[in-house]
Amino acid sequence: MGMAAKSAARSGNQIPPMDDLEFARWVRLLETRTGVTVPPERKPFLVTGLRRRMRQTGHTDYNSYYEELLDGARGAVEWATLVDHLTVHETRFFRHMPSLELIRKQWLPDWLDEASDDQPVHALSVGCSTGEEAYTLAMLLDVALGEVDPSRRFGITATDVSQPALSQARAASYPLSRLEEIPAQYRVGTIEPDEDENFRIAERLRKRVGFACVNLMHASRAPLRQLDLIYCQNVLIYFARERRGELLDGLARLLRPNGLLVLGPGEVTGWTHPQLIRTGGRQVLAFLRQSKETRA
Ligand SMILES: C[S@@+](CC[C@H](N)C(=O)[O-])C[C@H]1O[C@@H](n2cnc3c(N)ncnc32)[C@H](O)[C@@H]1O
Repeated sequence: MGMAAKSAARSGNQIPPMDDLEFARWVRLLETRTGVTVPPERKPFLVTGLRRRMRQTGHTDYNSYYEELLDGARGAVEWATLVDHLTVHETRFFRHMPSLELIRKQWLPDWLDEASDDQPVHALSVGCSTGEEAYTLAMLLDVALGEVDPSRRFGITATDVSQPALSQARAASYPLSRLEEIPAQYRVGTIEPDEDENFRIAERLRKRVGFACVNLMHASRAPLRQLDLIYCQNVLIYFARERRGELLDGLARLLRPNGLLVLGPGEVTGWTHPQLIRTGGRQVLAFLRQSKETRA
């Protein structure tokens, strides 16, 4: 135990309530660095995450902890851990079936009609959390392509701002109780038994998925290849409404002609893009990049 942790333990680790000025300062730091905005009603969530990490590191004072986060390389390392406590990682396999059905039944067949014979499908899972979304896409593409074009390759890049979430995603091991989230037709050859009552994503699928720590705010500047499918659900909701359009413009720039951008229903309203047209039914929020460039 370090000095700070010992003294915190001695003092009973009493962290005082957070006043409004302090709250505003932490909200600003999180928003500047990640884009995630914390409205007043979510103050308990921020305070709980912050206190949990402060207890682990032996801090009892918000101000001294804040100063530590600004302290060069040491602060950057601590920030990488803290951000995991201040972001929501809730996720599931096959979380939004209508979006996945759109990919499988409508978009993929059309895309295959237009693609050249050896063109692989490149997909991106944005805000992938602990990996379930990326592996869902891998299972979906594996099964769907296996039925119509087994020689077609695919690759998935999955990004998140939380390093601990990405470590879990890379491990690809999940409790057996989560198996029921995966429809039976997608379980064949895509998962394998693992230790400790866990199952693991099969190696041949793991090899298709690469994880990277990328902040969505900088995604359009990240060294990402041009993509055929961008899947971004339950991430934009944490960003201020006025910022969401800008982020989507950045993602749209990464999309190839005939590429599909899939968001969560209701996550953005009123956003349009000169090269993208809305597609799918009312249960989904998806945009198709037109095959020919049109003038803006
Ligand atoms: C609620 S989870 C959604 C996971 C998955 N997309 C799904 O729908 O099941 C939100 C994820 O977005 C990530 N996130 C938050 N801010 C981010 C940012 N600025 N850049 C990249 N990822 C971010 C969080 O770390 C978290 O893992």
